[in-house]
Amino acid sequence: MRIEPATAVVGHVAVPGDKSISHRAVLIGAVAEGDTHVRGFGRAGDTQASIDAVRALGIEVEDLADDELIVHGGELRSGSVDCANAGTLMRLLMGMLSGRDGSYVLTGDESLSSRPMERVADPLRRMGARIDTSEGHAPVEIEGSSLLAIDYELPVASAQVKSAILLAGLSAGGTTTVVEPVPTRDHTELMLEAGGAQITRRPTSATVRASTLRLDEVDVPGDFSSAAPLLVAAALVPGSDLTVHGVGLNPRRTGLLEVLKRMGIRVSIFNRHTFGREIVGDVQVQHGELSATEIGANEVPLLVDELPLVALLAASAHGETIVRGAAELRVKESDRIEAVTDLLRATGAHVKSREDGWAITGVPTRLRGGNVEARGDHRIAMLGAVVGLASREGVDIEDAETVAISFPGFYEVLDSLVRR
Ligand code: S3P
Repeated sequence: MRIEPATAVVGHVAVPGDKSISHRAVLIGAVAEGDTHVRGFGRAGDTQASIDAVRALGIEVEDLADDELIVHGGELRSGSVDCANAGTLMRLLMGMLSGRDGSYVLTGDESLSSRPMERVADPLRRMGARIDTSEGHAPVEIEGSSLLAIDYELPVASAQVKSAILLAGLSAGGTTTVVEPVPTRDHTELMLEAGGAQITRRPTSATVRASTLRLDEVDVPGDFSSAAPLLVAAALVPGSDLTVHGVGLNPRRTGLLEVLKRMGIRVSIFNRHTFGREIVGDVQVQHGELSATEIGANEVPLLVDELPLVALLAASAHGETIVRGAAELRVKESDRIEAVTDLLRATGAHVKSREDGWAITGVPTRLRGGNVEARGDHRIAMLGAVVGLASREGVDIEDAETVAISFPGFYEVLDSLVRR
């Protein structure tokens, strides 16, 4: 895929439904009582894997439209589930299935099969789960058993691990508490609360007791992480002015907006309202001069999937930017610390990888451009596309279609906003 330089990124746009919330609506809907009507579902490779997963476990899912479905909650039956590329799916399922009758095998593609699963299996075993990983990885085998509540302090800040334990806690005896080192996205807690679960949320912990749920309806906001590459393109390309409408603004997801403001970009929010317990609004970003910033471990979970884009912003800013406390990026769909370093260097940026992030010397001009490789990672492909728009010579992206994991129409949307 060839991405030519843009002279501006301009217009109004909406993005597909939030991936994290779409996964949760399908998975939690599957074990909730009655029907869950999901509107604004973000249909993409990852979320389709969630639908296929609950179907493989005997749950009926009715497709009403690309972005609308009904999940008929019910009893799960034993089965084998292909989680494809979706880490959120595999980890949340591990928690959800451990305390239910049945035998389950969870598999994934090559990338997912290289990602760490003991971080979920270990706390679940402490609850009494019978769960085996293959030397820490998928395939994961689960023999459903009765669980006992635990108090668990997460060694790494991970919403997926937190969510797995909370979902297991829904069918465990006693009160399960998860404490996190720093706040991570809380979509699971918000959806469980909306479904009537016995759950208490605090800034860095959540407590849940065995509960039955009833979701009835879930309205999914636009995915902030899909809006992010568009907003960053607007920040970088002179003359740009872009508004993304109806996007999720959960404060545990929007760290990028704080970073953009700190770097000197004008960000405006309009029409702030709620979708159930989630916050939604319209975000406008205009091009501006960028200055360097620092990112540390406390901020990382609030923009974990946007850090590759932050590295790009830093490459075009005045001064040196340091990103620390982001070692988790090494165990995403690719090793994103190395993938971002290689991609930005190949296109003319001055980036050094660190064990837990990057040191980036900004040069406030367009990057040269060049050939980049997405490594089967949707966020790296999107980074490559934004580099292309903001470059002098354009970018050729190999494996560009991997964007369909989270945002199937990405290149068409981008094209509709770009002036050349
Ligand atoms: C997610 C949590 C984050 C994020 C991922 C989605 C979720 O992962 O990177 O894209 O939906 O809970 P970790 O929990 O591993 O940090």
